[in-house]
Amino acid sequence: MEPDDAIGEILVPADDLARRVRELAAEVSRDYADKDLVLVGVLKGAVFFLSDLMRHLEIPCEVDFMAVASYGSATKSSGVVRILKDLDAVIEGRDVLIVEDIVDSGLTLQYLLRNLAGRNPRSLEVCALLIKPERRKVDLNTRYVGFEIPDCFAIGYGLDHAERYRNLPYVAALKQ
Ligand code: IMP
Ligand code: MG
Repeated sequence: MEPDDAIGEILVPADDLARRVRELAAEVSRDYADKDLVLVGVLKGAVFFLSDLMRHLEIPCEVDFMAVASYGSATKSSGVVRILKDLDAVIEGRDVLIVEDIVDSGLTLQYLLRNLAGRNPRSLEVCALLIKPERRKVDLNTRYVGFEIPDCFAIGYGLDHAERYRNLPYVAALKQ
C-alpha cells in the first residue's frame, strides 16, 4: 500500500487479529456444537472478520447478511436504523449469532437485536471484533468480543472511512 498520512497508530496488528479470531472461533465452535448456527454478518465492514471467523469454525453453520444504514453523520450514529438488505434466511427457532465489526454507541446493534428478536430465534447473541467501552450509550450483552479499543475512529480489516481503508490487514486509528 501507498504510505498514507491518514493512517495513524496501529491499534491491532495483523497477527493479533489472526490469533484472536482463531480463539473466538474455538469458543463459538464449542458453544454451538449441538446448535443450528446462523451467522448474520452486518455489511459491509463485518465481511472480513466474518469470513476469517467462519473459516475456523469446526461445526456446521450457515451465513447470511444484513445491510443497515443509520441516519446521522458519517462518524456518529443516531440509533435510527434503516434496513437496506434483509436476511434471506428465516431464523425462527434457529441459533443466530450477529457478527459485527465494531460496536461504538451500541445503538445500531440495539436496533438489530430488537428487530431479529422479533422473529423468534431460539437464541440470539453477538460477536463483535471491536468494542469502544468509553462510547457505549446503551446496555447490551456482547457475548464474544475480540478487542476493546480506546475512543477514536478506527480503520482497516473491514472498517472504513468514507469507504476507504477496508483492505488494510490491521486495525489503525484514523488521523483526523
Ligand atoms: P454504533 O451504532 O454507534 O454502535 O455504530 C455502529 C456502526 O458505526 C458500526 O457498525 C460501524 O459501521 C460504524 N462505526 C462506529 N465506529 C467506527 C469506527 O471507529 N470506525 C469505522 N466505523 C465505525
Ligand atoms: Mg458496521
